[in-house]
Amino acid sequence: MHEANENRYSEMIYNRCGRSGLLLSAMSLGMWHNFGSSAAYSNMAEMVTTAFDLGITHFDLANNYGPVPGAAEENFGRILRKELPAYRDEMIISTKAGYEMWPGPYGDHGSRKYLIASLDQSLRRMGLDYVDIFYHHRPDPETPMEETAAALDYAVRSGKALYAGVSNYTPEQTEKMAALLRGLGTPLTVHQPRYNMLDREFFEGLEPTLAKEGIGSVCFCPLAQGLLTGRYLNGIPADSRAASSSPFLSESRITEPLLNKVRALAEIARNRGQSLAQMATVWDLRNSLTSVILGASRASQIRENVEALKNKDFTQDELDQIDRILKA
Ligand SMILES: NC(=O)c1ccc[n+]([C@@H]2O[C@H](COP(=O)([O-])OP(=O)(O)OC[C@H]3O[C@@H](n4cnc5c(N)ncnc54)[C@H](OP(=O)(O)O)[C@@H]3O)[C@@H](O)[C@H]2O)c1
Repeated sequence: MHEANENRYSEMIYNRCGRSGLLLSAMSLGMWHNFGSSAAYSNMAEMVTTAFDLGITHFDLANNYGPVPGAAEENFGRILRKELPAYRDEMIISTKAGYEMWPGPYGDHGSRKYLIASLDQSLRRMGLDYVDIFYHHRPDPETPMEETAAALDYAVRSGKALYAGVSNYTPEQTEKMAALLRGLGTPLTVHQPRYNMLDREFFEGLEPTLAKEGIGSVCFCPLAQGLLTGRYLNGIPADSRAASSSPFLSESRITEPLLNKVRALAEIARNRGQSLAQMATVWDLRNSLTSVILGASRASQIRENVEALKNKDFTQDELDQIDRILKA
């Protein structure tokens, strides 16, 4: 069993999630990669306990994280029971449903049947009575949004989840879901969009809607899956995501023009006394974002990225230099 760091709340920043009572650590830990069925228990447990010891309270999962789908929730449940059994009330645990999870017509998209069955499965896999946040993982153009909203509302009313969220919804879809949920008496507390230096349009287009509706934002892929780090500057390391069997980051994404940008950004980071991973993480947090979800393959990456909070402010000159590089 892990003995948690007594000073875990001394350095982390906690931001209010929209117009809610929920405070989230400015950095969260996500388990999309590196928590699958063949991952080493000791490495996974070290990542989770390191994050918790650094004041990270928010842990992000989804029904399909693996491989195999469901494995990340099973592994996280095991880590909770073995390493951190006393700390459930100090954690915000999220899960999602919206992508394909099981065969047949009820294992995908946005029906009430799928969402509630999936949430029940997630709770069983993690060994939890409830999750803190339940997200609809992606919009479903075919299910009436009223039905998806009713399923999220039911998840909260039944106590299986404490807060409702959506991910990958456009501003228009977000506004509609917020209104439907408001009508049912359950606020839409949080949105989970992609956001990083290389991919900023989606979140920046969404920000006014989130501000107007009082919805918090927890962004994913802050390091563009590792592209915004020094990881690929000297080739593709054998233990990296690009070299792994993950279908989400292929070697073909790592082009010379991209590396030139990454080198120029790394130079600005160096002048700030940071690694590029550190600078890219806090760059996301410079505006209204509630939390960035870190992905990691080892505990040292989590330590490095959390350390960046000590130097999170940017001069206007640095922001302009970064913009010029990104627009080139
Ligand atoms: N809602 C959605 O649709 C959605 C979609 C995607 C992700 N997410 C969530 O967002 C989380 C984060 O996504 P992500 O893993 O793509 O995040 P990311 O931060 O963009 O990428 C994480 C990867 O960057 C590399 N890295 C991290 N810190 C580093 C450091 N200090 N130095 C060098 N390399 C470093 C590692 O790559 P290596 O593995 O190569 O070491 C790590 O696995 C996911 O776990 C999930 O919870 C949500």
